[in-house]
This record gives sequence, structure tokens and C-alpha cells, in this order.
Amino acid sequence: MAKLAKLDDIVSLCKRRGFIFQSSEIYGGLASCYDYGPLGAELKRNVRQAWWKNVVQMRDDVVGLDCSILMHPMVWKSSGHADKFADLVTVCKKCNTRTRVDHLQDKTDGSGAQEHTEHVNIETEAGKEHDLSNKVCPACDTVGQFGQPMAFKLMFETQMGANADDQMTLYLRPETAQGIFANFRNVLDSTRVKVPFGIGQIGKSFRNEVTTKAFIFRTREFEQAELEFFCAPGTDEDWYEHWKEQRFNWYLNHGIKKENLRFRDHDPDELAHYAKACVDVEYKFPFGQGDWQELEGIANRTDYDLRQHQRGMKTMNDWYETKGDLVNIKLKDEDPEYFKGPLSFFDEEAKERFIPYVIEPSAGVDRSTLAFLVDAYDEEEVKGETRNLLRFHPHLAPIKAAVFPLVKKDGMPEIATKLYNDLKGCFTTFYDEKGAVGRRYRRQDEAGTPYCITIDGQTKEDNTVTVRQRDSMEQSRVNIDQVKTYLREKLDL
Ligand code: GAP
Repeated sequence: MAKLAKLDDIVSLCKRRGFIFQSSEIYGGLASCYDYGPLGAELKRNVRQAWWKNVVQMRDDVVGLDCSILMHPMVWKSSGHADKFADLVTVCKKCNTRTRVDHLQDKTDGSGAQEHTEHVNIETEAGKEHDLSNKVCPACDTVGQFGQPMAFKLMFETQMGANADDQMTLYLRPETAQGIFANFRNVLDSTRVKVPFGIGQIGKSFRNEVTTKAFIFRTREFEQAELEFFCAPGTDEDWYEHWKEQRFNWYLNHGIKKENLRFRDHDPDELAHYAKACVDVEYKFPFGQGDWQELEGIANRTDYDLRQHQRGMKTMNDWYETKGDLVNIKLKDEDPEYFKGPLSFFDEEAKERFIPYVIEPSAGVDRSTLAFLVDAYDEEEVKGETRNLLRFHPHLAPIKAAVFPLVKKDGMPEIATKLYNDLKGCFTTFYDEKGAVGRRYRRQDEAGTPYCITIDGQTKEDNTVTVRQRDSMEQSRVNIDQVKTYLREKLDL
């Protein structure tokens, strides 16, 4: 069983083993920003790759996309982010700390905090009565001393253009999804896809989060893996169920233990007004009492997004006339025949034009990476000593194989180096000739390397090497010429 009882244990494990570091640490660190170290970068790359393979590469009905982070500001007006992507915050009158209203805890029993919510619906939240008289400031513990709740916008602003007269305020994208909607027409026109089909994308997103003290669960710069799956109205509920099952199984198939994964349906008041249904895939992080946290949201977004962008396209004159004043632009109303608009789809077989419905599985790459890491962590007693290991699924393991000469003489390093050079073209491979071989095995166990290959005295005699398996510690002899094929089969690569 994993023995990571506190968030601090995870943070220190990540730092110690070179998975995740605080950003700009030599300058005291930058809050809520993190860097992936040598093992972390490989692990995260493998998580991305596993998502892409499953959601894009292996599907005949999904294509990929890689959009720019900076987009036309009207994208965010149409999507609703420019006006509504905000958290309801309050400021502690004693210490001036700004806190999300839905993250405040009650003094009496510590309840009331909705830590699992990503972002509340600002329109419904701002309209509600908020009694903060019994709430505790998380920074200074003062009770009930809060100012009037107000909206705090979450998009980062930046300026584009070198000259003062052509400067434009842009936003760092808060989700990758809108780039997909903005390219829906391009993809339709440039490929042979037909509804039902999906567009997948992995990339960085940015949110000026208010609450960030949770390592890489909630950061201001993070990566998302999002799929927008376009389908005919009326088929949306079946596709919603399909993607729920697909995505849940993806986590299980890549090593997450079943007891640590669950669905959490959104309550009706959590749902955005346009969403027909939404469910979170949650992981039970092992610290504290077991902390269920969202890894991914799966939503039935109806035809809302494409219809909003059609309204945005009609509003471009106003954007020019107001010189890009997003606050004062009002999106044009839809045409009565909006379903024939530029972002509609014509179904040749049914001879019918419609705006597709969208099912959106939206995963956090950083959160999944961390979940895979803590779920893989294990400790066991071996001959009176504690063996620490990461039981990564082979596809996710940062290093697939390590090659050791048993000793640094008798021609063993030469044979080992030759094998290492051969393997590294196919797998991430590590070469180590320092220290006792037992210690080298342990180091690789801690990195989660599934196979270690040792060149020993017998190698020269019969051309075989020892292959040691991480989880069972079983050793077998394999012909050196067969090692690559053996690993390919075992790693399923
Ligand atoms: N397009 C829908 C969308 O962006 P979301 O629930 O806001 O939905 C999807 O985000 C996923 O992105 C979340 O389930 C989470 O894994 C990840 N995510 C969102 N905000 C994050 C943050 N501040 N830090 C790390 N991951 C985040």
C-alpha cells in the first residue's frame, strides 16, 4: 500500500526523485508554478502520449489539432469567458487575503468548503445570499471578518503589437477547447470527417487562480487534454455514456486502482445553463482521510459553443467600431435559422442541416500525471529492508529499461554500452555502472523502471543477460540479441 499520508510527502517525493520542482526555486520560487524534472518530464510526456494514442490515434472518428495559445479576443467574448469566467471572492478585513467564497470553511465543524469545485457559476453565485459570519479566513484564522463578495476575473491579460496604435489586449487561453470550436469549419473543410467525429488537442492553459496551495492540483499554468466530440442532436446522450466509459477505463487501463477512481455527477445547480449533463472523474489522493479530487470533467455541452461562435462572427463589425472594447460589445442575436449558419453541418444521408451537439471530455494532464505517480507508489519489506518502488504501467514508466555491467571490468562495460546504445533508439534507457548491483536495482525501482538488464560473467560464455522485473523482482536469462524483442513484447510497445 502507498504510504503517502500527507501532501508534503508527495511534494518531497517529487522533488527528491526529480519529478517536479518549484518553478524559479533559486530565486525563492514562483507561487503556483512548477517545473517537471528529468523523470517528471518523461512521465508527463508518456501521459500525453497515452491520451493521444487512445483518444486520437486509435480512433477512426477523431482527428488532432494544435492551436495557438493567443487567439482573437472575440473568441472569449463568444465563449462567455470575457464576461463570466470569474470566481466569487471575498477579502479578509484583518489580513487582506482574498479567498474564494466557496472555499471558506465553517468555524464550528470545518464544513462548508466546496474544495472539489473547479469554478462556480458566477451568475448564480453572485445572486445568492452568502452568510460569511461563521467562516474562517484560511490565512489568519479570523472569523467572520469578510468584505462583500465580488467577482474576480481569471483570464491573464497580455498586450500584442509593437506600436502603441496597433496594440491589442489579448488573453492567455483558459482552456484549449475554444481553439477547437474556432477551427470546426476548417477541419470539416480540409478533411473527410463527418459528424459524428471528434477533435482532440493537448496544450497549455492559464488561469489566475485564487486558491493555489495544492501543489500541481490547481496551478496558474497547466496542461489540458481535451476532446470535443461533435454529434447529431438526439444521439448526444449515447455519446455521453460512451465517452464516460472510455475515459474511466483509460485511467484504469493505465494503472489507477479501481477503488481510487469514481464518477461524481454534477448537482443541477453546478451545471452551466447550457449543459445537459456533467460528470467528474475523481481520484482519491492518499493523504489525510483520502481526498477525492477532480481529474477530468465530461460534459454534454449541447450546441451552445458553435451557436455562440456564430453570434460572435456576426458581431465583428461592432468589434471594429468599438475598437475592440469587449466590455461594451453585445453579441448579436441569433438568426431564426441559426441551424443553417456557417458552423452548421449538412448530413448528406439525412439531407438535414444542424448545429452539432458536443460531448467534451476535458482532462488535466498535470493532475493525471500526479495521480498516476501516487497510485504507483509502493513500499514493501524485502529481506528486512524497505523497498520503495513506483509500479508504473509500462507505457507510463519514465525509463523503460536500465542496463548494468555487473562489474566495471572483464569486458562487461563494453558489452553493456553496446546494448544500451542499441536499446536507447527504441526505449528511454538508462546506463549505470556505479555501486553494487543491488543498489542499482533499488534506484531503478524508485524511478519505476520496469526492466533492468545485467551483463555478467555468463554473458561472455553463452551470450545471455539477466533481465530483472521490477514488480516481482524475478530474474530470467535472455539471449542478448533477443533483448530488444523481449522488451518490446513485455512493454507492449
Ligand atoms: N473546457 C472545459 C474545461 O476547461 P475544467 O473543468 O475547467 O473544464 C478541465 O478543466 C480539467 O483541467 C480539470 O478537470 C482539471 O484536471 C484541469 N484543470 C483545470 N484547472 C486547473 C488548474 N488550475 N490547475 C491544474 N489543472 C487544472
